[in-house]
Amino acid sequence: MSKAYDKPQTANQNILNWVRQTADLCRPDRVHWCDGSEVENQMLCDLMVKSGTFVKLNEKKRPGSYLARSHPSDVARVEDRTFICSRTKNEAGPTNNWADPAEMKQKLLGMFNGCMQGRTMYVIPFAMGPLDSPICKIGVEITDSPYVVVNMRIMTRMGQTVLDKLGANGTFIPCLHSVGAPLSPGQKDVSWPCEGDPKNKYIVHFPEEPSIWSYGSGYGGNALLGKKCLALRIASTVAKKEGWMAEHMLILCLTSPQGKKYYISAAFPSACGKTNLAMMQPTVPGWKVTTLGDDIAWIRVGKDGRLYAMNPETGFFGVAPGTSAKSNPHALAACAKNTIFTNVVLTPDNDVWWEDMGVPAPAKGIDWQGNEWTPDNGKKGAHPNSRFTAPASQCPVIDPDWQNPEGVPLSAILFGGRRPHTIPLVNEAFDWEHGVFMGSACGSETTAAALGQAGVMRRDPFAMLPFCGYNMGDYFAHWLSFAQRTDRAKLPKVYFVNWFRKDANGRWLWPGYGENSRVLKWICERVEGTGRAQKTPIGNLPTLEAIDVSGLNLPADDLPQLLAVDTAGWKAEVEDVAVNYAKFDGTLPKALSEQLDGLRKRLG
Ligand code: GTP
Ligand code: SPV
Ligand code: MN
Repeated sequence: MSKAYDKPQTANQNILNWVRQTADLCRPDRVHWCDGSEVENQMLCDLMVKSGTFVKLNEKKRPGSYLARSHPSDVARVEDRTFICSRTKNEAGPTNNWADPAEMKQKLLGMFNGCMQGRTMYVIPFAMGPLDSPICKIGVEITDSPYVVVNMRIMTRMGQTVLDKLGANGTFIPCLHSVGAPLSPGQKDVSWPCEGDPKNKYIVHFPEEPSIWSYGSGYGGNALLGKKCLALRIASTVAKKEGWMAEHMLILCLTSPQGKKYYISAAFPSACGKTNLAMMQPTVPGWKVTTLGDDIAWIRVGKDGRLYAMNPETGFFGVAPGTSAKSNPHALAACAKNTIFTNVVLTPDNDVWWEDMGVPAPAKGIDWQGNEWTPDNGKKGAHPNSRFTAPASQCPVIDPDWQNPEGVPLSAILFGGRRPHTIPLVNEAFDWEHGVFMGSACGSETTAAALGQAGVMRRDPFAMLPFCGYNMGDYFAHWLSFAQRTDRAKLPKVYFVNWFRKDANGRWLWPGYGENSRVLKWICERVEGTGRAQKTPIGNLPTLEAIDVSGLNLPADDLPQLLAVDTAGWKAEVEDVAVNYAKFDGTLPKALSEQLDGLRKRLG
């Protein structure tokens, strides 16, 4: 380890004390303060190539890029090992795992005791949001994983600039992470040290402090603590107190043929199409999409009373399988260089491949588990939750305002999910309260983004079920409160979309991807007051002629199916939402039970 980096370039006693205490607890061999430089990044990548964590990819085909393979037990977020340790169980609410903060702290202190022996402890000062943004939040992640450091460098603003911004007196959110695999003297390390029983993983949030402690996983949102842990779970609790929102949303800008810009944010559950929509290539002539963010939006009321959305991240941690030149050319371009791939196939020429990449599979390769693989061996080469970590700045359609510290004013907010039946292609809320009802009623089939069975329908309100850091009933009330925080007329219009309808034979009814621009176009027309709609019991649905399907060659029956009100299906939907609402008992806002009753009555 280069000596030059071992001296902290900060006079901030809070950080210096916390780092010293943490080193005393975890007992690493070395402490490395990350400056975020290119030199440091290269040193860490070289180190990981040497240790076997990284494979350097073909410099001609994939410059500056690496492949990592995780342990098969450590491939996704672990929701049942994620805890919100607020003072009382009621503050965490019925949807979160709660544990008593003092008891949990005791347990964690035991696990972190000596957990970094034989390893280097890295100190990563990072910022979520542009450093000059009024809602920028600073965190310091301490980790024993160099993989986490190089990923955090892509996903966040990281290093010396953040220490400088903190100065001597600034405050930060402590985020402690360990792979939980101390090395005894002479013990040889493995390429992915989290081999343990998933029951030994702990992703823990202390919203009172606030702080984050994560033990035993090196993967994605479990380990890159700026993302789901800080920018969603902790930020949502801070946002509730401070009067803004931290949401699991993409942000995009749609520019009309007349050159008018519409900023839209959309909340879909994990692996339900945010990255794809955020950077889609519209098929409708003359319309353009530019990207501001693909996973997280921090939203607040701006000086003019409109809602402004800002992406706190600087990279994409995107799902690899299904990403092709046809489905998402801009994501492919974003990961053409300087990208970390995790759990995809390594080709014989040291490049990467995954299922539905749109290019022929290599005749043979190395699969995500490190075994020899051929396309006909009956196994997937890439893990369904394999991911790329790519700098947002490399996206060819990144929006010029993506780092605007004030964010961008929203014209519309979308909710969605994977719903093979009942839920129409697009549905407009009557008003803000109805829109909040739509968000609270979100459901989706589960995906590979979290450990557990995929393809099971579950309620995922606002796509925040795994990410809301406090009682979700209070979170619903917080959403409703925005009608009082500003002039209603300035609030964005709210829509529910569903790209995932299937017919009786399991065929997609809607082509999705770039064709979703046809739906976005109608939404912009509604914002302008020109789009045609009919009032139905479930919301305002586009008339059949209102969606531009020119050139699409959609089978004649499909659009009517996509835009129909399936009354029987909706009646079942209402009762299922009622079952979910019953969980919130004391905290469910009256306005939402009234919305549910209203819908039930309208359905007859
Ligand atoms: P997280 O990063 O987990 O939060 O996921 P995400 O919401 O960004 O999902 P992403 O855009 O990565 O899409 C996940 C999967 O859904 C990929 O396999 C896509 O190919 C697929 N998908 C995305 N958009 C569409 C669509 O419009 N139609 C269909 N049928 N599939 C889609
Ligand atoms: C998600 O699961 O919603 C993700 C991936 O965006 S992770 O960062 O692992 O949470
Ligand atoms: Mn996500």
